Amino acid sequence: MSQLPVINIGICGLGTVGQGVWKHLARSRAALESRLGVRLNLHRASVRDLRKARTVRVTAAKLTTDPLAVATDPTVHIVCELIGGTTLARQVTLAALRAGKVVVSANKALLCAHGPEIFAAAQKHGGHFFFEASVAGGIPIIKALREGLVANRFGRIYGILNGTCNYILTRMEREGLDYPVILADAKRLGYAEADESLDVEGWDTAHKAGILAFLAHGAWVPTEKMLVEGITRITQTDLQFAREHGYAIKLLAVIARDFANGELSVRVHPTLLPLTKVLANVNDVFNGISVNGDVVGETTYIGRGAGQDATASAVISDIADAALLLRRGQGCAPVSAPAAVRIPFAPPERIRSRYYLRLDVRDEPGVLAQIATATARAGVSIADMVQRPGLRPTAATLLLTTHASDERAIHATLARLKQLRSVLGTPLLLRIADF
Ligand code: NAP
Ligand code: HSE
Repeated sequence: MSQLPVINIGICGLGTVGQGVWKHLARSRAALESRLGVRLNLHRASVRDLRKARTVRVTAAKLTTDPLAVATDPTVHIVCELIGGTTLARQVTLAALRAGKVVVSANKALLCAHGPEIFAAAQKHGGHFFFEASVAGGIPIIKALREGLVANRFGRIYGILNGTCNYILTRMEREGLDYPVILADAKRLGYAEADESLDVEGWDTAHKAGILAFLAHGAWVPTEKMLVEGITRITQTDLQFAREHGYAIKLLAVIARDFANGELSVRVHPTLLPLTKVLANVNDVFNGISVNGDVVGETTYIGRGAGQDATASAVISDIADAALLLRRGQGCAPVSAPAAVRIPFAPPERIRSRYYLRLDVRDEPGVLAQIATATARAGVSIADMVQRPGLRPTAATLLLTTHASDERAIHATLARLKQLRSVLGTPLLLRIADF
C-alpha cells in the first residue's frame, strides 16, 4: 500500500457534513484505497471554534481556523468546502480552483448564486468542481442526470428536494404537531440549514432546482425568475383535507421545458399530490425525484435527502471521482453539463393548475354567495367546497378546490376575495398536481 500515490484531502468545515465525511472516510479508507489505487490522507481541516466538542477525533496539528490556508495549501489535492453560506465559501472555493485543485462541495446556495463564476474559474485554472452532495443528499441524482441519462432531453423533472420540509410535513400529519416544534428536531438531527428559513421558505429547494435545471438544460435560472413558496402556512386543516380527498401535501420543485417554444420554467411550492403517485408516499427526511426523459421515459429516485451519513455518502463519492481524476488524468473527468445556452424563461403566470384555497370567513348569512360570486367574476370555477369550524365561534373555515385555471385568474380571485369584509386574513393558496 505504501507505494500508492498519496492524495491529501483538506476539509473546510467540520460540522454535520464535515464530521460525517471524516468519520466514514476513516472507516472505509482501506476498501476505497484498494479500489481507487491511491492512498487517501485526511490531511487538514478547518473549523470556526477550535474548542468545540467534535464526534470525530482530529489531532490539533491538523486543525486550523483558517479555511483559506487549507484551500491554498500546496500539499492539499482535494478541498472539500463544507462550511455553507455564500461569502467565505465562495472565497475558499475560488481560491482552491485558482490553485488548480479539485473542489468537492455540498453547497447548493453557493452554486446557485455563483455557478458560472465557479465553473469559469475551474476551467481557466485547470481545477475541477464536484457537487453531488448539493442536491438530494445521498441520491446520486447529479450522476444520473449528467451521465446515466445523457441520451435524453428532459420535458419535466419534479421532486421533493428538501429533507427538512418533508420531515416536518410528514410528522405534522402523523402526529398532529405544529411545524416549529418539529423544526427543532430537524435542527437537532442535522437536517436543517444553519439559517432554517432557507428550508421552510422554499429557497433551499429553489437552489437545488436551479442546479438540476442547469444540468438538464444548460441554463442558470435566477431565483427571481422562479415562483418560490414555502411550507410555513400549512396547517393540520390543510393536511387533513388533502388526505381525505386522496392527496398528500409535499413541497415540490417542478422544472418544465416546453420544447415547442423552448421555454423553461422552475417553480417551488407546496403541492397537493395524488396519493397514487410514488412521490406522495415518500416521507420523513427522504427525497424523491421523478425525471422524464424523451428516450428513457420516467425514472424515479428515492433516498435520504439530508443528514450526516447520507450527505457524507455523496461527498465521498465525489472524493473517489476526484481521486481517480488526479490519478488517471483528464480522461476521467465527468461528462460536462450541457453547453451554457440562452433559454427563454416562462413567467410563473404561465402555470395552469387546479387550486386549493383555505379561507377564514365570518360565519354569517350570504358569505358563501359572496365567495362564489367573487370566484365566478374572476373566471374561476369552484369544484368542491366544505365548511369547518373557525378559529372562533363567529368565524368559519372554508376549504375549496377549483377546476383547472391559471395563475392570473386565481390571483384575480384572491384579490377579489381579500376585498370582501367577510373574508378574514389572507387566504392560503395551494396548487394541485395533475401530472
Ligand atoms: P454546519 O453543521 O453548520 O457546519 C459548518 C462548519 O463550517 C462548522 O464546522 C463550522 O465551524 C465551520 N464554519 C462556519 N463558519 C465558519 C467561519 N466563518 N470560519 C471557519 N469555519 C466556519 O453545516 P452542515 O450542515 O455541515 O452544512 C455544510 C454544507 O453542506 C452547507 O453548504 C449545507 O447547505 C450543505 N449540506 C448540508 C446537508 C445536511 O444535511 N446538513 C446536506 C447537504 C448539503 P464550527 O464547527 O467550529 O462552528
Ligand atoms: N437542509 C437541507 C434539507 C439539507 O433539509 O434538505 C440537504 O441539502
